[in-house]
Amino acid sequence: NLKACIFDLDGVIVDTAVYHYKAWRRLANQIGFDFTEEQNEELKGISRIESLKIILNWGGVSKSEEEMQELATLKNTWYVDMITKMTPNEILPGAKEFLESVRENNYLTALGSASKNSETILNQIGLMYLFDALVDGNKVTKSKPNPEVFLVGAQELGVKPEECVVFEDAIAGVEAAKRGNMKTVGIGKADVLTEADIVVAGLFEMTIEKLESL
Ligand code: BG6
Ligand code: MG
Repeated sequence: NLKACIFDLDGVIVDTAVYHYKAWRRLANQIGFDFTEEQNEELKGISRIESLKIILNWGGVSKSEEEMQELATLKNTWYVDMITKMTPNEILPGAKEFLESVRENNYLTALGSASKNSETILNQIGLMYLFDALVDGNKVTKSKPNPEVFLVGAQELGVKPEECVVFEDAIAGVEAAKRGNMKTVGIGKADVLTEADIVVAGLFEMTIEKLESL
């Protein structure tokens, strides 16, 4: 018996991956290497510091913990410059409509994001009012595929994990939901998100009927 929907933010409600890529790439270039958009795919759903570690590894560069904190902060200032210019036009197709319809059908909603910038983004795009609970990188310590972010979401909503459906675009996110004993809707391609219960190209393809068939 499903009671709640938990949504990832980046790649499900908005496409911030391009901003993350620009800022990380600027950082890598400054250090003296580059990486591709394809490599960037591997960073989806991964926390800021874990992402930096992966990128430095691609560049064959090693840094102290302190230097890594500084680099992550620098990247974030560039990233924040870009996301504070976001507008509601950047909401992905169908996201607002689907969130509204799940609420009209009496499901609870939560955000389950690795980002520490989720409130900034939700304010910029004007969708804060559609969530009963917000769980993001400020509240959890374990990066996806650890299920912590979704389990805290269920707890804040007062529902059991098995009563939740998670909407995720990242492989690590789908894995996190599965480990948390939740149903999953993959947002993207079925050949990539192989562990998801169903996969849709975007929330514009999602309906209450599909939700109830899970
Ligand atoms: C996730 C993104 O939502 O948030 C990752 O998919 C990102 O790419 C992570 O690294 C952390 O985001 P932030 O905003 O805290 O740097
Ligand atoms: Mg995502």
